[in-house]
Amino acid sequence: QILILDFGSQYTQLIARRVRELNIYCEIHPFNKIPEITPAIKGVILSGSPCSVRDVDSPRVDLDLFRNKLPLLGVCYGAQLMAHTLGGEVNASKHREYGRAILNHPEHSLLLDSVSPTTQVWMSHGDTITKIPDNFELIGSTDSVKVAAFKLTGEQTYGIQFHPEVTHSTEGKTILKNFVVDICGCTQNWTSESFVESTIRDLKEKLGDDKVVMALSGGVDSTVAASLVHHAIGKNLYCIFVDNGLLRKDEFESVLHSYQDMGLNIKGVNSKDHFYGLLEGLTDPEAKRKAIGKAFIDIFDQEAHLIEDVKWLGQGTIYPDVIESVSVKGPSATIKSHHNVGGLPDFMKLKIVEPLNTLFKDEVRNVGRALGISDNILKRHPFPGPGLAIRILGDITPEKVAILQEVDAIFINGLKTRGLYDQVWQAGAMLLPVQSVGVMGDERTYERVVALRAVTSVDGMTADWAHLPYDFLADISNEIINRVKGVNRVVYDISSKPPATIEWE
Ligand code: XMP
Repeated sequence: QILILDFGSQYTQLIARRVRELNIYCEIHPFNKIPEITPAIKGVILSGSPCSVRDVDSPRVDLDLFRNKLPLLGVCYGAQLMAHTLGGEVNASKHREYGRAILNHPEHSLLLDSVSPTTQVWMSHGDTITKIPDNFELIGSTDSVKVAAFKLTGEQTYGIQFHPEVTHSTEGKTILKNFVVDICGCTQNWTSESFVESTIRDLKEKLGDDKVVMALSGGVDSTVAASLVHHAIGKNLYCIFVDNGLLRKDEFESVLHSYQDMGLNIKGVNSKDHFYGLLEGLTDPEAKRKAIGKAFIDIFDQEAHLIEDVKWLGQGTIYPDVIESVSVKGPSATIKSHHNVGGLPDFMKLKIVEPLNTLFKDEVRNVGRALGISDNILKRHPFPGPGLAIRILGDITPEKVAILQEVDAIFINGLKTRGLYDQVWQAGAMLLPVQSVGVMGDERTYERVVALRAVTSVDGMTADWAHLPYDFLADISNEIINRVKGVNRVVYDISSKPPATIEWE
C-alpha cells in the first residue's frame, strides 16, 4: 500500500482516488500523525498544502523517516518542503501560478517514463522553488517554473510542482502509475472482488459467533455494509429498518422486500406514530432534526435490547467521514458526523464495526456490485435521515406528509421514466408553507405550492441545479397539479449551492 501524508491540500483525496483507480490500496494520514511504517507500505506521497514552507509554523515532517528507506514523492508543497529543508530555496512566485502549463522533460527519468516530451500539467501554487541543492537533478520544467520536477541523486525521492492527481494534468495518471508501480513496486491487485473477499474473511475472524445489530436506511452505505457483515456471520446480523413515517411513498415496503430478497435477517418496525407524536407542533428545522434523532434512538434502543447478548453495532461509515474527522483542517468534521454517526447512544456500550470505513463512495458502489446488490439500491439518490420532515417547511402532519409523498413520487418516477434519474445527483420536492390562488374549472382555489429541486453534484458539498428539459418540467407540473389534491402551483428551484443549500431547511 501507499501512505499519503496530508498537509491540508484540497486535492489530497484526489491523490488517493487516483492511486486506488490503479488498483493499489492507499491511506491518507495527517502529516503530524504518521502511522507505524509496516512492510506493507511500499512508498510515501507528500501532499500539497495551502501553507507556505517559508512560514515558521508551516506543517513539517522529518524526511529522514522515509529517505533511503522508501520511495518518496512530494507534490507541490511536498516538493517545496523537500527543496526548502534539504538546502534549496523557496520564494514567493512573482505571479501566482494557477492553471494549465506545459511540462518539458528532455532527460529520461523513471517518474516521467512514457510521458509525452511536452505534456499538459496543472499548477496551483503561490511559492516556487528558486534554487535546488547540488544533489537534486532537474527532470522537468515549464516556461514559468524551472523546477517543475526533480529527483534526488542516488535515491528514489522525487518532487513535482504540479498536481498529477487532477484530470487537467493529462498524463498525471501515468506519472502516478510510474511512481506507485515502477518505483514503489506495488502490485495492482486491489479490486472490489479482493476487497470483498478479504473483508469477509476479516469480519469472520473479528466477529466470530458474536451478534451484530445494524440500523438500515435503504441507502447505499448501510446496505453494502450490512451485506458484507451478512456474508461473514449470516443470521447473527440483526438488521432493523424503521418506518419513521417520513420516507418516500411506498419506500418502506419496497426496501424491506429488497432486504428480504438479499437474505438479510431484517425487522421492519412501524414507528410512524411515535415520530409524528414527537414532531407535533415543531416548526424549527433543528428542533425537528433533534426530535427525529431522539425518536430514532428510542426505537433503536428498544429494538436492540430485544436481541439477547448483542455485542456489536454495525455502521455504514465511509472513508470521507473518517478522513474529515482526523483531517488537518479539523472542524468540518462536525457537520458530517451528525448526518451519519450522530445519535449513537453511548449507554449501549456496543463495539463498533464499520466495514466500509476505508472506501470512497464510488468504491462502495463497486463493492455493492461485486456483492450482487441491485442497481435499484446502488444508484439510489441520497436521502436525508430526517426524510420528508425537512422538506415540509413548518410543522409536520400526516396529511402534509401524504401530499408531499404523492408529489415526490410523481417527480421521481418521471425522472426515471424519462431516463433522467441517473443524470441527477439528488432530487425531491419541498412543500412550502404558503398558499396561492389558482383557478380550476370555474372555481378559484387557494392551495399549496410545491417546489421541485434537482441538482448535479459530485459529493453534495457543492451543487448546481439540474438543467432539466422544459417539456419534462411542464409534464411533471401538470401531472402534480391534476393528480395531487391540495396543490395548485409548482415551482422549480434554480439556485446553486453555495450560496443556497440542497435542502430548504
Ligand atoms: P444541504 O442541504 O446541506 O445538503 O446542501 C447536503 C446533503 O446532505 C443531506 N442532508 C442531510 N442528511 N441529515 C441527513 O442525514 C440531515 O439533517 C441532512 N440535512 C441535509 C441533503 O439531503 C444533501 O444530500
